[in-house]
Amino acid sequence: MLQDKDRIFTNIYGRFDQSLAGAMSRGAWDGTKGLIEKGRDWIINEMKASGLRGRGGAGFPTGLKWSFMPKQSDGRPSYLVVNADESEPGTCKDRDILRHDPHTLVEGCLLAGFAMGAVAAYIYVRGEFIREREALQRAIDEAYEAKLIGKGNKNGYDFDIYVHHGAGAYICGEETALLESLEGKKGQPRLKPPFPANVGLYGCPTTVNNVESIAVAPTILRRGAAWFSSIGRPNNVGTKLFMLVGHVNTPCTVEEAMGITFRELVEKHGGGVRGGWDNLLAVIPGGASCPVIKGEDMADAIMDFDGMREKKSSFGTAAVIVMDKSTDVVKAIARLAYFFKHESCGQCTPCREGTGWMWRVMERLVRGEAQKREIDMLLDVTKQIEGHTICALGDAAAWPIQGLIRNFRPEIERRIDEFTRNAHRAEPVLVA
Ligand code: NAI
Ligand code: SF4
Repeated sequence: MLQDKDRIFTNIYGRFDQSLAGAMSRGAWDGTKGLIEKGRDWIINEMKASGLRGRGGAGFPTGLKWSFMPKQSDGRPSYLVVNADESEPGTCKDRDILRHDPHTLVEGCLLAGFAMGAVAAYIYVRGEFIREREALQRAIDEAYEAKLIGKGNKNGYDFDIYVHHGAGAYICGEETALLESLEGKKGQPRLKPPFPANVGLYGCPTTVNNVESIAVAPTILRRGAAWFSSIGRPNNVGTKLFMLVGHVNTPCTVEEAMGITFRELVEKHGGGVRGGWDNLLAVIPGGASCPVIKGEDMADAIMDFDGMREKKSSFGTAAVIVMDKSTDVVKAIARLAYFFKHESCGQCTPCREGTGWMWRVMERLVRGEAQKREIDMLLDVTKQIEGHTICALGDAAAWPIQGLIRNFRPEIERRIDEFTRNAHRAEPVLVA
């Protein structure tokens, strides 16, 4: 288990002072100027050496992403864009950083922005996060007032930070849809490549990073890459915010070491599974787009990128959705299918048509009103959507259903048998 001394988000539980003075007393903005004086290459190399992988869900190496930004300007300004459009069902960690520890993000923006030669950061905050964006704006205002950011600031690198409010569309969390939305257009994903580092905001070099990825950067740079990479296991290092949601006794967001076991995470921080471990039915380990895993398969699970891949799921945002035996798991996945259908931007046919098709079949499977061969047909459709769309929303809609069929096929078949039995029973008896 992570020691308190290794926690970055010491304020995450709202126990302390969120003001600039409070943040400084916990180490924020300590020696920032000195870090900047070490230069862009030093920061990028340190971030690469730390092994930090993007905390928004995809796990792309953060330092490597920063290194894609042009070293010399070709006349276009460069931008840092922070993705605070946290909308993945079950995920609520960036919300807690914005609420309780916004200065970690503000300082991170300056350091990351300097490292990639950006002139400004735009922080795109989910529309529903009203208190969060107020807290963030307060922190930014305080940083401007204390001359920590802005023109001619004490840290020696001119840098502005702007907050932009989303309007409630899940798809605007996809990085290129977010850029479109920032530019004032309809939030629809762009084809990649080109990646944002080449053609991003207003056609300029841009890096889009998740809130947590940026907020941990100052501590990594202060304490050193070796410290961060010593936590966890190779390829899966550092501390991470985990969310325990659903049927645990004490749902929470907690910072833990990567590679903690599922059992330890739930016991130590979630107060155990509601009704005990024997009552565990299923787990979605990283937010709604990750395949659901059977409870019994989670007993030995290691909570990191590789650990979840071994379980044929993914680590995603580390939003651990725990379902006990009171859950109708088929209905739960059908509800997610509805969510993805609703949030599809409609740009590409497999996603636009496929998400609606999958949802309608899922609704029938919930009632058992289907034929067993339709289960394989549904699986086949998920495979035709997966990998054939402009953005990852198509995959995100396909994976939970694939996980359900892989792990809970007998439950789906049981419903079909039951429905068929009842339908026959209800038939009028013909008397000759
Ligand atoms: P992705 O794997 O396409 O990209 C990840 C990042 O790496 C992007 O910034 C991309 O530009 C960069 N990248 C990838 N390959 C690159 C290359 N060859 N050259 C340069 N840059 C490259 O994944 P994506 O679509 O950004 O994210 C999908 C994940 O997002 C899902 O797995 C899901 O877990 C997560 N997600 C998180 C949400 C949240 O609320 N935090 C909401 C919805 C999804
Ligand atoms: Fe839009 Fe879906 Fe295509 Fe993504 S996959 S671009 S959400 S239609």
